[in-house]
Amino acid sequence: MVSRQGAQRALEYQSGFGNHFASEALAGALPQGRNSPQRCAYGLYAEQFSGTAFTAPRHANRRSWLYRIRPAAVHGRFRRVAAGGIDNGFAAQQPSPNRLRWSAPPLPRAATDFVQGLSTLGGNGSPDANSGCAIYWYVANRSMRGRYFYDADGELLIVPQLGRLLLLTELGRIELAPLEIAVIPRGLRFAVELLDPAARGYVCENFGAPLRLPDLGPIGANGLANPRDFLTPVAAFEDRTGRFELLAKFAGALWSAPLKHSPLDVVAWHGNNAPYKYDLRRFNTIGSVSYDHPDPSIFLVLQSPSDTAGVDELDFVIFPPRWLVMQDTFRPPWFHRNVASEFMGLIEGVYDAKAEGFEPGGGSLHNCMSGHGPDAATFEKASSADTEQPAQLSGTMAFMFETRAIIRPTRRALQSPQLQQDYDAAWQGLRSHFTPTARRARRRI
Ligand SMILES: [Fe+2]
Repeated sequence: MVSRQGAQRALEYQSGFGNHFASEALAGALPQGRNSPQRCAYGLYAEQFSGTAFTAPRHANRRSWLYRIRPAAVHGRFRRVAAGGIDNGFAAQQPSPNRLRWSAPPLPRAATDFVQGLSTLGGNGSPDANSGCAIYWYVANRSMRGRYFYDADGELLIVPQLGRLLLLTELGRIELAPLEIAVIPRGLRFAVELLDPAARGYVCENFGAPLRLPDLGPIGANGLANPRDFLTPVAAFEDRTGRFELLAKFAGALWSAPLKHSPLDVVAWHGNNAPYKYDLRRFNTIGSVSYDHPDPSIFLVLQSPSDTAGVDELDFVIFPPRWLVMQDTFRPPWFHRNVASEFMGLIEGVYDAKAEGFEPGGGSLHNCMSGHGPDAATFEKASSADTEQPAQLSGTMAFMFETRAIIRPTRRALQSPQLQQDYDAAWQGLRSHFTPTARRARRRI
């Protein structure tokens, strides 16, 4: 027996980041004046869903109250199942200082849903330590059918590169397309349907503190990702019974429990521990209007803070379309070595530091203190460009997962046929222009 109440509604969202939202798919389903009345309306069960410690400071505290047909406790016993491409055994891997780059993973031929199509590139820390992250590619060509998933190890930042997704979550439905991102809170149950024949993208599983908007400091009250552009779904539930499967990622492994009803049975909810999406094209990009290139922290969308002030466990950074107007300035990203470690992906177009080899759907890894920057072709072009004129970067969207700990690639990623064997060649053409007899900088190269 299948009934999908609320499923016919056009997708609606509530605006704001970290707000205390309230939504009900049936009028009167939300209790008023209390969270856990003796009897809930419509015979619903009340359940709290915590994203932080009960005693976390108010500004960092995340929790929601759910009013649902059956409690989340109603399911069978979990048994461990094959994890496919999921691998969190980072500590066992010896990383290298080598710069690495991968071509885009091919789309699957066999039937593959979102969970089956996850493949760990690398990561650091562990769910046990509530610290670090895991980075995945996903590829899929079919919707999750009767399979529901939750991740007890971390929240999931989903970055589609190809194909639209419909995220059916306990707290409502999110339609997600490339150039948008979504964040699923730790533990929230959901299923992924495909709205196009195939899908590919990236996932960052954040073991640390929930992602939040960064402070803006002297930028002021506005700018970067503005809070009202974050969209959280309204309540939508399904009342379905049948033979279903509840998949859990727990302590780095995958588990399966039988389920006789859909877990997406939350009729009403309120709180701030909720999924959301954000259109990266809404990012208010800020850059220099005089000289020099700002540090890439100016492109920060979301951060997971650590216990050390000013040092994040995880930063999500984007490189969106923008104008470059800095005069007498080398405009592409400069050469650098970073105490943090950087995984970069490309959603569309061309990244302005690489002339070729970094393709949409691919990725690069520059770990702690590994020198990198523009390739030789980009350097040659940018060194002779006319910086008296503004230049527009358009049709591009690159991003970075930046972590304070070394990103340790998995064996699977290192053995992948997509790993490019000649990445070091990107910088081999950077020859010496040193001229000891010339006192002034030479523009000619
Ligand atoms: Fe970098």
